[in-house]
Amino acid sequence: MEQQRAGARLRMILGHLGGSSARAVVLKYVECFTGPNIMAMHTMLINKPPDTGHPLHQDLHYFPFRPSNLIVCAWTAMEHIDRNNGCLVVLPGTHKSPLKPHDYPQWEGGVNSMFHGIQDYDQDHARVHLVMEKGDTVFFHPLLIHGSGRNHTQGFRKAISCHFASADCHYIDVKGTSQENIEKEIVGIADKIYRTHSGLDLKVAHPTSGPIAPASFHPRQFQIEFEKICRGESKPEGLVVMRDILKYVECFTGPNIMAMHTMLVNKPPDTGKKTSRHPLHQDLHYFPFRPSNLIVCAWTAMEHIDRNNGCLVVLPGTHKGPLKPHDYPQWEGGVNAFYHGIQDYDQVRAQVHLMMEKGNAVFFHPLLIHGSDRNQTQGFRKAISCHFASADCHYIDVKGTSQENIEKELLERANKFYGPGSNTDMKVHLHEMTK
Ligand SMILES: [Fe+2]
Ligand SMILES: [Fe+2]
Repeated sequence: MEQQRAGARLRMILGHLGGSSARAVVLKYVECFTGPNIMAMHTMLINKPPDTGHPLHQDLHYFPFRPSNLIVCAWTAMEHIDRNNGCLVVLPGTHKSPLKPHDYPQWEGGVNSMFHGIQDYDQDHARVHLVMEKGDTVFFHPLLIHGSGRNHTQGFRKAISCHFASADCHYIDVKGTSQENIEKEIVGIADKIYRTHSGLDLKVAHPTSGPIAPASFHPRQFQIEFEKICRGESKPEGLVVMRDILKYVECFTGPNIMAMHTMLVNKPPDTGKKTSRHPLHQDLHYFPFRPSNLIVCAWTAMEHIDRNNGCLVVLPGTHKGPLKPHDYPQWEGGVNAFYHGIQDYDQVRAQVHLMMEKGNAVFFHPLLIHGSDRNQTQGFRKAISCHFASADCHYIDVKGTSQENIEKELLERANKFYGPGSNTDMKVHLHEMTK
């Protein structure tokens, strides 16, 4: 039942993303492979840069779940794709063969990180190059041997790759199998990122758009472009530079600014149960670092925001009070996950509703009590929230404090994603998604 609900919700979301029906059509075909209980396993925007190729491989190498017959890839071209910009090449019929051992090919110019390939395949096997137009989609089995040639153009070749599986699939332990090498590599990268033994029981997805190899990666070119944008010499379409923000942030954090986290807050229309309300809270509840006086939020409206679509409401002066205990409010219609609130606050204290125009930004202290009401419109109310802190801030241990409950909840969520025992030392600055 839960799986059916998840499948129905997935259809709704994808249907919405694709406008009227494009995504729904994809799922119609996906269902032929996975059955009705569809799980979206992973989605990639593949932005293939000039020059890189992808060795022949089977996607199942990256997937620690089975059975393979209930997994399918939907690969959609976002523009005209042919041999010139590195189209897919497939070896028809190879999906009937077993999973083969994969490793890095010995290519002269190197190969991208995690781009494993098969050495042992029939070199005389017929190959088909898939010339595709924008919007064309190909569905293929995770055992089909495929790859892509070099992108000989100067542009980035774009496609969307989505892997779907039946909810009846189960995870497998890849220890002792040919998939052990990719698991080891991914865990090694996770350990590097977390700078400790992450202990993560990683369920690894396919990294087609993984990091670029040192041979073709030129960070300097991005730095030069970034500096040009900052100087106003380059104006990429659709990019808005909020250059004045940091000038004000510095007043709170001092000159050594760290960007702690950034959110696009896309507050959905309320379903009628008032669950899009955000209870009164202090952001510091979510932050295991101090001192609070060196942290600030810059909250920018992306459109006109008022009480109708759920503007911010603040209790002026409350930033001078201590951090209060937070928990889920006892609201009849429920409340979003991680939306903790304060029960113990002065109910007669003045509240200010912040009506804002597109581009207006408000800066506030992480102890300021604030929240937002439900969105009563049919549109999504959009804002950008960025938290900055001084680089002199330090992490604290929240054990035994009022912040222990949010840490516990986040760890439980992480365990659900990564499997039990993911004893990650989480320095969590995860904040609520739809403030
Ligand atoms: Fe692939
Ligand atoms: Fe907040």
